Amino acid sequence: MLTVKQLPDLHGKKVYVRVDFNVPHKGEVISDDNRIRAAIPTIKALLEKGARVVLMSHLGKVDWKKLKKGEKTQEDIDGQMKKNNLCIAVEPLKKHISDAMGADVNVAFCPENRGEALKAAVEALKDGEILLVQNTRYQPGEEKNDPELAKEWASLVDAFVMDAFGSAHRAHASTVGVPEILKAEGKPVFLGFLMIKEVENLTRCVEVKAEDRPYVAILGGLKVSDKIKVIDALIDKCDYIIIGGAMSYTFKKARGEEIGSSFLDAASLDYAKECLKKAGDKIVLPVDSVITDSFEPVEGRKIEIAKAIPEGFEGVDIGPESEKLFASVIAKAKMVFWNGPMGVFEQEEFQSGTKAVCEAIKDLEGKAFTVCGGGDSASAIKQFGYKENFSHVSTGGGASLEMIENDGHLPGVDVLR
Ligand code: 3PG
Repeated sequence: MLTVKQLPDLHGKKVYVRVDFNVPHKGEVISDDNRIRAAIPTIKALLEKGARVVLMSHLGKVDWKKLKKGEKTQEDIDGQMKKNNLCIAVEPLKKHISDAMGADVNVAFCPENRGEALKAAVEALKDGEILLVQNTRYQPGEEKNDPELAKEWASLVDAFVMDAFGSAHRAHASTVGVPEILKAEGKPVFLGFLMIKEVENLTRCVEVKAEDRPYVAILGGLKVSDKIKVIDALIDKCDYIIIGGAMSYTFKKARGEEIGSSFLDAASLDYAKECLKKAGDKIVLPVDSVITDSFEPVEGRKIEIAKAIPEGFEGVDIGPESEKLFASVIAKAKMVFWNGPMGVFEQEEFQSGTKAVCEAIKDLEGKAFTVCGGGDSASAIKQFGYKENFSHVSTGGGASLEMIENDGHLPGVDVLR
């Protein structure tokens, strides 16, 4: 694979850069621009080579099913998105990109992502300039990898750079369609710096070397059904799988324990039983829980520690004995992969288990390779101030899980091979 470490001189060349600027936002206010900052080294390298940089990203999701039949215009989409506050125009990203690039960089914005306006905006670019193009998901063909859309986007440029790790598990027009066409035309396609780092670090969690054992995976999150494929893959690869968070109650139920009114993914109960049988002692479950009679933070709610969870109570964090048990398993690790918090860390009362896992991983610094697979656990470690204690914190929650599930393969990476 070509990478941006091998960029040729790019004066006069237009380069399509797929970034993942799907940042957390409320309306137009962006609360965390980490994903933008993570892509800056690639953009800078391109500008140094004289490239004309065309930045393409999605931001949020369009719920096409909610649009009435025939409502497919830009205004329809805008209206729907405003209602749902889901998918927004990417213009507010402009300021964050300029700030992250430092002084003297002007970022132009094209409010259209197809047609003459886009073509003119790309043609107007000069060497060393950046154009940010409207949200890729404003096009219905984007998520379907529509060949006509990919053809139009590919026709605008001379080269492609993939730096959207968070979207590399999506075979969309902007991630797979465009590089496929450019490659067929003999034009160069490159992996960006962010992608190189992510692929290298996560490949280590997939192709496990003897010196990285014991390999401990820590999984949390709500539904077992969302993580079946990754659990299967991890049972084969890991020495221990610690399961906390809401999904642990389905496993506890499968083991015949009392879980009261805790979240139960009933459809996955048989699967959980099979897993416990197959994985044996590899799977480590909580031995006690923080329980409450009200998930909502109402005054006077009861919060207790329990081994068996009575009716009317639900588990919302791992308990102190489980913290000790999990820490003792983590302490053995030479490699850790973590995805999913241990409890409802958004509420202060239920943060202790997730913080305990952070502390245990911090204690491994210099002794083990530790990866946080993005998503909610990445938000938690950032919130609690442990980000620097990890060897690698992924920018892609879904992508890092899919890379593990699919033995290192992602459509947005494979297309560049
Ligand atoms: C993410 O935030 O996980 C990526 O940007 C992919 O977004 P998606 O799940 O909406 O495809």
